[in-house]
Amino acid sequence: MQIGIDKIGFFTPNKYVDMTDLALARGVDPNKFLIGIGQRKMAVADVTQDAVSMGINATKQYFAEIDQSKVGLLIFATESSVDQSKSASLFVKKALNLHPQVRTFEIKEACFGLTAALMTARDYVRVHPHHTAIVIGSDIARYGLNTPGEVTQGAGSVSLLVKANPSILTLNEGHSAYSEDIDDFWRPNDSKVALVDGKYSTQVYLEFFKKTFAAYQAEKGWMTRDFGALIYHLPYTKMGLKANNIAIADEDKNVQERLTETFTASKQLSMEVGNIYTASLYMSLLSLLEHADLEANALIGLFSYGSGAMAEFFSANLVDGYQKQLPLAWQEHLLNRRQRLSVAEYEEVFTAALNEPAEVELTSDEERGMWYFAGTKNHIRQYCQVK
Ligand code: CAA
Repeated sequence: MQIGIDKIGFFTPNKYVDMTDLALARGVDPNKFLIGIGQRKMAVADVTQDAVSMGINATKQYFAEIDQSKVGLLIFATESSVDQSKSASLFVKKALNLHPQVRTFEIKEACFGLTAALMTARDYVRVHPHHTAIVIGSDIARYGLNTPGEVTQGAGSVSLLVKANPSILTLNEGHSAYSEDIDDFWRPNDSKVALVDGKYSTQVYLEFFKKTFAAYQAEKGWMTRDFGALIYHLPYTKMGLKANNIAIADEDKNVQERLTETFTASKQLSMEVGNIYTASLYMSLLSLLEHADLEANALIGLFSYGSGAMAEFFSANLVDGYQKQLPLAWQEHLLNRRQRLSVAEYEEVFTAALNEPAEVELTSDEERGMWYFAGTKNHIRQYCQVK
């Protein structure tokens, strides 16, 4: 039985900062951010968008089209959790009016979280072939104003429907995993922004990529040239470019050009949105599917990395006709609707979001129908839809 991704939903907030504006405000040559880091824009979540509301908005995008009675599992992966106890997935379940027989919970291992959810969903569907699973990755990457990591922030969510005989891609059996207790990036309970040893984190990411890619190739007996595309967790697009250059280093010119082209296709959304932690790899997937010209049944290699650190390399095959399932028009609309903030406005929005007011009813400037965080009542988070 083939199991994989049948639907992809995507969401990113309605505000962004342009990287040239940010560079000039920080006294940096814009080419450092545009070329050296490889980012064009960065999504900014105001106080009314959090991991939960973004996850609802991403899932809502395909939810009306599916057989909701068959959803047996709902997993929410995030490192921007809104509660130490209650799962973010329960807010999503309520907003979408999903039936109560679903098994639902939240999981965490930095940016690896959505891959962990996807693999758990695959195993679930293998045992329950008539059921489906929804897995959501949703995050706001925050390092703080005027920090080296500032340029690698972002916000957004990707939601996937996993089922037997999927219409977008099938996951292949086998994977190579690698983990080590490493302090490259973390967010302690008393901090609203991530702490990071930036240079060390990029070094560990590349080491883990080399290890997992080599182990996967050895296990499968596949060469780099057998892949139709290689995609990566993209904390910023230059990071993935470095990994891709390692992967193709020993290949002939044709393979190098082909896999550079597919990598370029996979980074387009990330350049516009920034880092969305758990969902970044799956935003690369969406971007690849929308921007690359891939053969039916093409083999895609996926590298997932979560700081701390846990990495996994796995692969999938495209399903013929996958293009019809992509949320292209919606996603273009999401990017086109965004308001460009000045750096001063971004700093204000950023600071306000970090200091969420208690027991205040918030209103949203989002479009009609979008979900948003409306404040707390008796310490209970409220989520509403824009009327
Ligand atoms: N024109 C073109 N390029 C320029 C330039 C210019 N004028 N000026 C500098 N550059 C280049 C540099 O040469 C460098 O390129 P290389 O990486 O190829 O050497 C690049 O721009 C970045 O320059 P620096 O290394 O000097 O940048 P920095 O000290 O400001 O830090 C960073 C960069 C470490 C990525 C920092 O932004 C950071 O800490 N980010 C957060 C951590 C992160 O994203 N780590 C990634 C792996 S961890 C992970 O994957 C989990 C996760 O999601 C967080």
